[in-house]
Amino acid sequence: LDNGVSRTPPMGWNSWNHFWCGINESVVMSTADALVSTGLASLGYKYVNLDDCWAESERDENGKLRGKTSTFPSGIKALADYVHARGLKLGIYADAGNRTCSNQMPGSLHHEYEDAKTFAQWGVDYIKYDNCYHDGTRNRERYIAMGHALQKIKRPIHFSLCEWYFLQRNCIFLRGQEDPAKWAGAYGHSWRTTGDINDTFASVTWIADLNNRWGRYAGPGRWNDPDMLEVGNGGMTMDEYRSHFSIWSLMKAPLLIGCDLRSASNRTLRILGNKEVIEVNQDSLGVQGRKLRSKDGLEVWAGPLSDNRVVVVLWNRSELRALITAAWRDFGLSPNTPAIVRDLWKHKSVSMNKRDRLTASVAPHACKMYVLTPLQS
Ligand code: DGJ
Repeated sequence: LDNGVSRTPPMGWNSWNHFWCGINESVVMSTADALVSTGLASLGYKYVNLDDCWAESERDENGKLRGKTSTFPSGIKALADYVHARGLKLGIYADAGNRTCSNQMPGSLHHEYEDAKTFAQWGVDYIKYDNCYHDGTRNRERYIAMGHALQKIKRPIHFSLCEWYFLQRNCIFLRGQEDPAKWAGAYGHSWRTTGDINDTFASVTWIADLNNRWGRYAGPGRWNDPDMLEVGNGGMTMDEYRSHFSIWSLMKAPLLIGCDLRSASNRTLRILGNKEVIEVNQDSLGVQGRKLRSKDGLEVWAGPLSDNRVVVVLWNRSELRALITAAWRDFGLSPNTPAIVRDLWKHKSVSMNKRDRLTASVAPHACKMYVLTPLQS
């Protein structure tokens, strides 16, 4: 949506991938503190996002949503104040149906405007809108209802559509509906392109490929969302987490940390805090990088960056170390164009005058990530 919000992909933290329904205000407050103390906030991770299960099971006597008193005794407004006082922003979760996916709290269907007003009064800055327990009416209409409500309240709020059409495409009742990439950008700032991620390398490769198909619909204020990060949750190797983070950054995905930041290891923080990789994600051009070549699990992904630069990821999905080559013509640079090649994980320039190709030996499930800066020849 072209209203000034999320001109680059949103960055922050979300409770779901690590805590599921087990959230409370002390977890959220201490995570906000950790974002600041680890330095991640100053690298751009600003949103502190509650996912499912933050509210009481029923609305109050005035029909308003309210924070669950057993887990959020100070209330959501106080939480927003706490987060804002640290220079961060608060995100919340709601659902375009009668109940949220956990069935633990009310949905916002037919309550869009009053809930949007409540969120704005609390000082909420981001809304993730899920799609469970709906009444069978068209996704698009239910999502647009919330989109309109958010426009009416005039607070800049990132609207994240967690819509499920792609999973239900074969359902006869949904014929005539369209994939969110084709319409959601007129109403919101990001839309899910896949089902839920899990903390495995198989999930990362599967989701990366699904999200890759929608690349041309992304741009400033409108991003494909391949789901939140699993980096630091323990199910993958560090090489796999570096690949996950590199490809999400190249695809201009929202970078929403999904681990317990209060106990994150230095190795995890070094991945999430790689400034050069983050700069690729936040590049002002806002073009989603994509897969250019794949053979036997050896892949070349690339995309344009501002100032005629190019980001390249050589990704080895196979089980054996292998050489991967990207040629200048793969990304539209004419052969014989000299370029500076910077390795974003080694943090150094590896060559000052590559002219037509780049080859690297890549460990299984690992990747190399480079920015090429062509020189005038
Ligand atoms: C489904 C979404 O895809 C997840 O990210 C999470 O929000 C859960 N619902 C919460 O129930």
